[in-house]
Amino acid sequence: MDVRPFIVGNWKMNGMRASLAEARAIDRVASRFLKVEVGLAPPFTLVHATRDAVESIRVGAQDCHFEETGAFTGDISPSMLADAGADFVIVGHSERREYHVESDEWVRRKCEAARSAGLGVILCVGESETVRDCGRAVEFVTEQLTASAPQIENAAEKLSIAYEPIWAIGTGRVPSVEDISEMHEAIAAKLSELYGEASQGIRILYGGSVNAENAAELLSANKVGGALVGGASLSNESFGAIIMAAAGLGE
Ligand code: PGA
Repeated sequence: MDVRPFIVGNWKMNGMRASLAEARAIDRVASRFLKVEVGLAPPFTLVHATRDAVESIRVGAQDCHFEETGAFTGDISPSMLADAGADFVIVGHSERREYHVESDEWVRRKCEAARSAGLGVILCVGESETVRDCGRAVEFVTEQLTASAPQIENAAEKLSIAYEPIWAIGTGRVPSVEDISEMHEAIAAKLSELYGEASQGIRILYGGSVNAENAAELLSANKVGGALVGGASLSNESFGAIIMAAAGLGE
């Protein structure tokens, strides 16, 4: 069971081959802070090259299909990702749920397919601003988690959850440490219901406008086992500072 903080960069639809220099620079920072586990999810086109360019960080992808092969134009299967050198995949990101109309059931099947192919999974959940304003955030997120979490044998192995309030993604707004703690505790309780003892090994990441300045504070909330970082992961300077903030936690 890995209890190190897990800091993951999600490059979204950003990154050209020239960006490998940035990945190498992030890798150099990661190699100095081995008590933090660092992951990077570049776009599909860079997965293979990133794998070859780095040593100390895990390389992942941002989505996958749930079938192994077939007539699914434009899609990529978990085993293809593994073959390209990925060792984890982000599943159910709110941008996929929204722009690609991914249901909880699809997300669950993707998680299961990815785990069956041996990939680690970062399953994303999070509420909209309207849901938060109605006071239903915890209820919504725990229901979303129940409906999209993998239900196969050993599902809890290599599984992480990312709590990402949709209203905090790319906006510069973040929940209070108390709100993050409340949500992460509720997620941990739900995971324990779903997976029993095995849930102890699941890290629950926070995501949404994490940056060099707020990382230490956000990571100090209860049951926060790391961060999923979008915009601030694009540069070694800001992502490196977040890795260092995470390294400071255990000291
Ligand atoms: P952000 O994105 O850090 O740019 O808010 C986080 C995410 O969507 O994973």
